[in-house]
Amino acid sequence: MLKLKVNDEIFDAAEKELPSYIKKHMQILQTVQAGEECYKDSLGWHDTSIWAGDETIDKIESIAAGIRKIADAFVLIGVGGSNNAARSVIEAISPDGGTEILYAGNTISPNPINKVLKRLECKEVYINCVAKNFETLEPGVSFRILRQYLVNRYGKEEAAKRIICTGTIGSSLDKLCINNGYAFVPFPTDIGGRYTALSYVGLLPMAVAGIDIRSLVKGGKDMENYLRYSAAEENTAMQYASLRNIYFSKGYKLELLSAFEPQLRWFYKWWEQLFAESEGKDGLGLFPVSGEFSEELHSLGQYIQDGSPIMFETFIDVKEKQDSIVIKPDNILDGFDYLNGKDLWDVNRAAFEATRAAHGKKLPCLTLEIDRLDPYHFGQLFYFFQFSCYLSGKLLGINPFNQPGVEAYKNCMFEALGKTKI
Ligand code: PA5
Repeated sequence: MLKLKVNDEIFDAAEKELPSYIKKHMQILQTVQAGEECYKDSLGWHDTSIWAGDETIDKIESIAAGIRKIADAFVLIGVGGSNNAARSVIEAISPDGGTEILYAGNTISPNPINKVLKRLECKEVYINCVAKNFETLEPGVSFRILRQYLVNRYGKEEAAKRIICTGTIGSSLDKLCINNGYAFVPFPTDIGGRYTALSYVGLLPMAVAGIDIRSLVKGGKDMENYLRYSAAEENTAMQYASLRNIYFSKGYKLELLSAFEPQLRWFYKWWEQLFAESEGKDGLGLFPVSGEFSEELHSLGQYIQDGSPIMFETFIDVKEKQDSIVIKPDNILDGFDYLNGKDLWDVNRAAFEATRAAHGKKLPCLTLEIDRLDPYHFGQLFYFFQFSCYLSGKLLGINPFNQPGVEAYKNCMFEALGKTKI
């Protein structure tokens, strides 16, 4: 099970403040563990068996197997919570050689859309449009472009067989599917996009990419059983969410999530969206940022170590050796002989330990330890952060499930583009 370690030379908050903070806010953990009636329309993820039960997994695996038999390319159309979870796992650990997953619906720039269309040439293509309300511009327009592409290439009837949509029952996307004969799977009505990793939204594209979703869901379920039933003092989500709020109250404005595995690049995006949209409201909330190390030690590293003290850091530490390259001696004198015989895995670990020690002198550092980067542990991470986000939002005193701020730019944009209400 995921573990939390604290390295805080500045406040020693884990020793001096955390126990009393947890005692004081125990009731909030119990409320979050039970799930609140007022959020019942957003808590469909809380009990993983509702949207990721055995029957759903069987169905997703069977749909994915059918697609994998034919498709060389599968375009996942969606933005924010409608694609981040799937992409974070697919880009990190999908096996080589299966159906290639491409992405659209997350931008309005024609450049990446044209690039996707180009990459589809000579490939057998399926598309999956994921949209909760089907009002968001990015997936809406990308779906139209890709739908037209499929019809031009395969004809209307065959194109219809290659389109699968994930939408809420009764939505305009559902109607569009009924009218045009596209396959349709449910987007949970009682889960907001950013909490949908363990549902059709996240699991179908992952399964098409060849990810073992059964194991991923098991990781989420095990984490659910632990977080929802363990006492406050030993509850890792309670410790993490409490420390976030303790540091926020001390004036820290940012949480930096970092790791020495570039495979986690898209996972950072998922995490950033989860916390930014959930907590950034009412003038409150930590701004979530990420550090892709060791590369960004050569850019952000300067600021982290020596700039304004506005952030604390959370490392993800992957404990078990998953890859290896032993550095061989070389007869060209390049100044790197001190690495002879060492494994890059261990060199990377040494860089991590050194960075944590150096950063620890300047800012509070938390470490979340996981054994491996595999489907099971991604499942654990998804549930852990979703639960922690709900809890952290409650400790902060905001509603973790709405996103009123996102509507502001949309309203201005729709007005500028002349959108009229249907
Ligand atoms: O978490 C959320 O609710 C949002 O980030 C949505 O996922 C995102 O805006 C996409 O919405 P939709 O699926 O309706 O296109």
